[in-house]
Amino acid sequence: NKGKYEHYMQKEIHEQPESLKTTMRGRLIRGGSCKAKSVLLGGIKDHLKTIRRSRRIVFIGCGTSYNAALAARPILEELSGIPVTMEIASDLVDRQGPIYREDTTVFVSQSGETADTLQALEYALENGALCVGITNTVGSAIARNTHCGVHINAGCEIGVASTKAYTSQIVVMAMLALAIGDDTISSQARREAIIDGLFDLPKKVKEVLKLDQEMKDLAQLLIAEQSLLVFGRGYNYATALEGALKVKEVALMHSEGILAGEMKHGPLALVDETLPIVVIATRDACFSKQQSVIQQLHARKGRLIVMCTKGDAASVCVGGSCRVIEVPQVEDCLQPVINIVPLQLLAYHLTVLRGYNVDQPRNLAKSVTTQ
Ligand code: UD1
Ligand code: BG6
Repeated sequence: NKGKYEHYMQKEIHEQPESLKTTMRGRLIRGGSCKAKSVLLGGIKDHLKTIRRSRRIVFIGCGTSYNAALAARPILEELSGIPVTMEIASDLVDRQGPIYREDTTVFVSQSGETADTLQALEYALENGALCVGITNTVGSAIARNTHCGVHINAGCEIGVASTKAYTSQIVVMAMLALAIGDDTISSQARREAIIDGLFDLPKKVKEVLKLDQEMKDLAQLLIAEQSLLVFGRGYNYATALEGALKVKEVALMHSEGILAGEMKHGPLALVDETLPIVVIATRDACFSKQQSVIQQLHARKGRLIVMCTKGDAASVCVGGSCRVIEVPQVEDCLQPVINIVPLQLLAYHLTVLRGYNVDQPRNLAKSVTTQ
């Protein structure tokens, strides 16, 4: 049932304040006078000791699920102190990459039925790794065949392009990082700040959804473009990849997410006064680096659309004309949850304006169960 919405993708984008609440329900502990704020993930609590002892954590997934894991990687590394590596499921299987008994492998899949991810799971099980699932589907093959895991509880997602599952996956993996790091006293203040940020997140998502009309206007401007680049780094490298994936899969427009640190090593050659470029430059440790990326793109007359923190428009757009998308600020590691929302809205409106099928894009399936 689409309710008041025209399409499932639209409904699922606007549902995110609620789906995130459901994802966190019963899992955040408010703490008290003598008890610290903490996280309780029932599905992994008995495995935390093993996870903390592992030599490496390996995230494995496809498409949007891979991007969600990439968004959570920095906070997992920070709070666990364990190296975290990323694997696209099919590539791990193609390479028969080394997986060891001392590894914790984390399988991220909305449907829990993606053939590539399942094959990688089979491979990791054969190699004796601890296999953890993160899925939206109770009773799915990933949920059944992993040793333990966390259901993201985002509610049924019907649009082929994943939206609310993406933000819920990031939140679950941030909670996973908090749970793994829970025995480290030195990071307690940081963990508590993130937990406060999680409590506040649905409200902030509601706020960023108010950009709907603004994103529709931007889509109108971009309607006839051939291509769109999205630059991000740090916590928002994943946002760049995921924003570009949304535009590509539903609006059928070529789009590429680019790690801003790689700009000079190739992508800069594409910049001219016609190609639209989204630069994600919200406040975090990488902000000044992104400011210099913007300046370099300006110097080459790039057609810029800058996503920045509310109130920062003047400081990100010095010396050039650019369009600005201002978003509310949250804890740095949760910022990808906010920043993807305007890009989801942009992809949605671009698709509708271009007259394509939003919920069932050409040639794609919600769950790819064959190889
Ligand atoms: C569970 C209940 C939830 C109940 C809550 C009360 C289920 C599905 N969930 O939620 O209804 O409100 O207790 O405390 O009954 N698992 C995997 N692989 C995966 C995902 C999950 O093995 O990919 C396993 C977990 O290790 C766990 C079980 O499935 O044993 C349920 O996981 P999850 O729903 O995340 O656990 P809770 O949040 O504790
Ligand atoms: C398909 C979908 O390719 O599978 C994508 O079209 C999705 O939207 C990908 O991200 C992975 O799916 P899952 O269910 O494993 O998260």
